[in-house]
Amino acid sequence: MTSGLARLTDELGILYGGDYNPEQWDPSVWREDVALMREAGVNLVTVGVFSWSHLEPRPGEYRFDWMDQVLDLLLDAGIAVDLATPVASPPPWLGHLHPESLPTMADGTVLSYGSRNQFCPSSDAYRAAAVGIAEQVVARYASHPAVRMWHAGNEYGQVCFCDRCAERFRDWLRARYGTLDALNAAWATVVWSQEYGDWAEILPPRVAPYHRNPSQELDFRRFGSDLLLDLYREQRAVVRRHDPARPVTTNLMGFFGGIDPHHWRADLDVIADDAYPDPASPDAAADAALVNHLARGLADGGPWLRMEQAASAVSWREHNLTKSPARLRTEVLQALAHGCDGALFFQWRQARSGPERFHSAMLPVAGADTAVHEGVRRLGAELRALRGLVGAPVHRRVALLWDWTSWWAATQVALPTARLDPLATLQAWHRELWRLGVVVDVVPADRDNVALDGYDLLLAPAQYVLDDDAAARLDAYVAGGGHLVWGPFGGVADGSSHLHVGRSPALLRHVLGVSAEEWVPLPDGGSSVVWTDTGLGDRPGTATVLGERTRSDGAAVLATYDDGPLAGCVTVAHHAYGAGRAWYVGADLTGPGGALTTVLRAALDGAGVPLGGQVPGVETVWRGATLVAVNHTGHPATLDLPAALAAGPDVVRAAAGLTDALTGSRYRPADTLPLAPHDVVVLGAG
Ligand code: GLA
Repeated sequence: MTSGLARLTDELGILYGGDYNPEQWDPSVWREDVALMREAGVNLVTVGVFSWSHLEPRPGEYRFDWMDQVLDLLLDAGIAVDLATPVASPPPWLGHLHPESLPTMADGTVLSYGSRNQFCPSSDAYRAAAVGIAEQVVARYASHPAVRMWHAGNEYGQVCFCDRCAERFRDWLRARYGTLDALNAAWATVVWSQEYGDWAEILPPRVAPYHRNPSQELDFRRFGSDLLLDLYREQRAVVRRHDPARPVTTNLMGFFGGIDPHHWRADLDVIADDAYPDPASPDAAADAALVNHLARGLADGGPWLRMEQAASAVSWREHNLTKSPARLRTEVLQALAHGCDGALFFQWRQARSGPERFHSAMLPVAGADTAVHEGVRRLGAELRALRGLVGAPVHRRVALLWDWTSWWAATQVALPTARLDPLATLQAWHRELWRLGVVVDVVPADRDNVALDGYDLLLAPAQYVLDDDAAARLDAYVAGGGHLVWGPFGGVADGSSHLHVGRSPALLRHVLGVSAEEWVPLPDGGSSVVWTDTGLGDRPGTATVLGERTRSDGAAVLATYDDGPLAGCVTVAHHAYGAGRAWYVGADLTGPGGALTTVLRAALDGAGVPLGGQVPGVETVWRGATLVAVNHTGHPATLDLPAALAAGPDVVRAAAGLTDALTGSRYRPADTLPLAPHDVVVLGAG
């Protein structure tokens, strides 16, 4: 999977560039674009993402002269092209001639053209037209030497509830369940008199009088992801008919609920992700790291590509804070530290019209004589100096378990509380790890192709769904000597959203040595938690949102609820199982008292994972034999280099001298490392 990216980076180095939409500009501007791209060190641009109406203004009538010129110009300038099949935004003629190609919402509202993304993924008219335009584009440009990668569609995520989608949903269900009896059982349709006697009766989960069937909803999420994957595969097949070799991908969107990227990744030659961290968030740096860890997990630990980001502000939030060039640089180099081998943007030139006219770009509407563009140029030069990082693996020993099935199921209605947000829980746990200086992969528990035993510690902050296979993998992992930290409300349901029967988590309680009989929302303000093992701490912690009425079935109890509905029950426990250890964390412990930090520190220590966090807001990551230190704060900082080296891989500890690849400054292993505000140091042996 990662070899797709290496095909480009081996030759071009770190990829740098962005979406390029020349069709929005007069051809006289294109020459200036290309000249400025060269000066900025741009080596790859994504062309044509939203160009369908400009390529096929009327059905079957094509206009390629402009794209011929653009690709030739780019070729002459030595800039490679990631060429899009422009199927994300059909022209108005498609919706006009085929109203059934427009998407229908769960309440029956049909969405119009006049924006973008207005297609029903099941529509035969859309699919035929999308394959048709892709065929034209790919056949024409497959042998164009500027084209180095293919970009199918854009940010797949459309959902539709129309009758054609209902038919396809039934086909998908027939393939999954075989018989109506099996479907009725999986969906527990006996509840509320929903039993189906004919496949034709089955519908997508449209707006209904009261709560919808959670098993049906969960299958519709899976179906929606698979349906879009079919569309992507149709595009990929068009490419492969004409071009057997060059990588094909599309852009993922981090923690986006619309598709399950773990199910898509085998079809993506390059893991490419779009990320727009919110500059207004105090947790932006930690949360951006989490998205990077997800991308790296999807790439099996190998390199990945940032396909889109903003050079400064976006225009789709309510209040769009800008980013300074220094901050942009820290974000880009942070991603690089986390295994990213390319920094692409939306977009090269800022639009002067259309809905995204206030969205920043590498080249602002104010022109090249701007701080943003100067920052872009400096960054381009620095990325050339960092070419040696390409392909190097990131040093990490810990994984966070996270899968889309669990996320989808744990955000359904009618749970014990609507306040337990699984993604917020994942972020909260990760922010603790980030502060402690621990780099993690984000990997799914529900796939058997992830090598869990490569990690010293697994953390499952929000594993609501657990099926037999995943439970068996976790059991084997701990029995074999692994360390596992299990979070609140975990292992509650199976893959159909049915509760497991028995004390919870029914499939893993023997591993945890703790079991629960009731899920108990906690009062506003939470319950206090006291340590029974004073070796861990003597400061009471706070448990919020949701706890479990627990007892120890053999685990050592480390903390209990001191008041509230769960007074006396186990909040934190520790259990030896086989050759490994399991930790139980029964509620959200991020509140006052910092109990989560205490538990995570103890678990990391128990698993022998060194902590890298020395200075708040300063991140240190090892990529290959290179230490990347990122000062996310606006203050100067100083790192203790011997301590940083000790937390890294063995190969680096032995280094006699170290050089900053960006400034050439040299350090001895016994030195301290000064970091200016927002500075990044990339320190390699030699
Ligand atoms: C997404 C899209 C781009 C653009 C950006 C703006 O990532 O793929 O076309 O709209 O958002 O942030």
